[in-house]
Amino acid sequence: MRRFVYCKVVLTTSLVWVLVDVFLLLYFSECNKCDDRKDHSLLPALRAVMSRAHEGPGEMGKAVVIAKDEQEKMKELFKINQFNLMASDMIALNRSLPDVRLDGCKTKVYADDLPNTSIVIVFHNEAWSTLLRTVHSVINRSPRHLLQEILLVDDASERDFLGKKLENYARTLEVRVRVLRMEQRTGLIRARLRGAAATRGQVITFLDAHCECTVGWLEPLLARIKEDRRSVVCPIIDVISDETFEYMAGSDMTYGGFNWKLNFRWYPVPQREMDRRKGDRTLPLRTPTMAGGLFSIDRTYFEEIGTYDPGMDIWGGENLEMSFRIWQCGGSLEIITCSHVGHVFRKATPYSFPGGTGQVINKNNRRLAEVWMDGFKDFFYIISPVIGKCKTPPT
Ligand SMILES: *[C@@H]1O[C@H](CO)[C@@H](O)[C@H](O)[C@H]1NC(C)=O
Ligand SMILES: *[C@@H]1O[C@H](CO)[C@@H](O)[C@H](O)[C@H]1NC(C)=O
Repeated sequence: MRRFVYCKVVLTTSLVWVLVDVFLLLYFSECNKCDDRKDHSLLPALRAVMSRAHEGPGEMGKAVVIAKDEQEKMKELFKINQFNLMASDMIALNRSLPDVRLDGCKTKVYADDLPNTSIVIVFHNEAWSTLLRTVHSVINRSPRHLLQEILLVDDASERDFLGKKLENYARTLEVRVRVLRMEQRTGLIRARLRGAAATRGQVITFLDAHCECTVGWLEPLLARIKEDRRSVVCPIIDVISDETFEYMAGSDMTYGGFNWKLNFRWYPVPQREMDRRKGDRTLPLRTPTMAGGLFSIDRTYFEEIGTYDPGMDIWGGENLEMSFRIWQCGGSLEIITCSHVGHVFRKATPYSFPGGTGQVINKNNRRLAEVWMDGFKDFFYIISPVIGKCKTPPT
């Protein structure tokens, strides 16, 4: 009996709460409509222009939803690049994105005489829409006088549309875009070196082939390099969903580190780094390591520190190698929190590596440990005993 009364009380209170929620929802959705109407009457022309630009799929960084009857086809296409190719192909190459910067960043003023930059983008069998959206976002959101050229380095792709068609398209763009071809598959590091060698800008900016740059991304990077040419700078890497291509702002409260297996990891920014910046989150954030895909470096400084390790294969470990190199050669590695660039993060890699993924990464990591870690390399060998056992020195 007691139990029955208890149940009744619980049920009635839940019901009351549900009713309150419904009331609140209705009330606030009504209110939104009022605000809309007010805006329309205030700035009808501006509103119309803005809403037109924001209507298409994915505009303002919104998620793309694929219709039910297309889901099967979508799953098939997903396998090609390990992201939702169908969604990407639906989104305009020049889609609009939200301004996700901290308020303190939006009012910063930069010098007129910033160094200019060459952009180097390495690709291998990239999708047309993601590659060209990267290029268009660079062109549309970079001051023209700061953009020397864009170099697209093709690491031996096998897709037809990345051949002549890409070169012809590049010629129609209002910025100099050149396509360089590797004769055979050499991997990210050697392809980046090939691109870097061909640059003429004062700064080299490396980007991945499936990025989107947001408003004001470039100036703060170049301004920091102008201040100190030995600072190597990364934007905040925002997340573009591999499922929906929704644009989601990354955090300025995490930075790069690594574990003793020499995997790159994100960690919370420690209090000492917040204190060093006197709590101003818009100031450059010193980071032990970088994710590696996106960064800017003074071209002559890049040469001074010996560029990348050309003995590393394909991909993996090169981001930590570059990070250790920078810190140990008198430079600094920083995340510029006023610069935001989106990146499509995938759960799996669509590429096959000659010799297998594990093999390549192990070799690269051994080079990393032997060259830059002195006695600390022992931690790595203890944690990864398989690698420690093969005593042949890295070649
Ligand atoms: C993208 O380009 C098209 C065609 O040039 C143009 O109509 C559209 O307004 C542009 N979109 C944005 C968001 O700038
Ligand atoms: C960029 O800087 C280089 C070196 O100072 C200069 O030769 C080049 O003309 C500049 N490019 C642009 C687009 O201003």
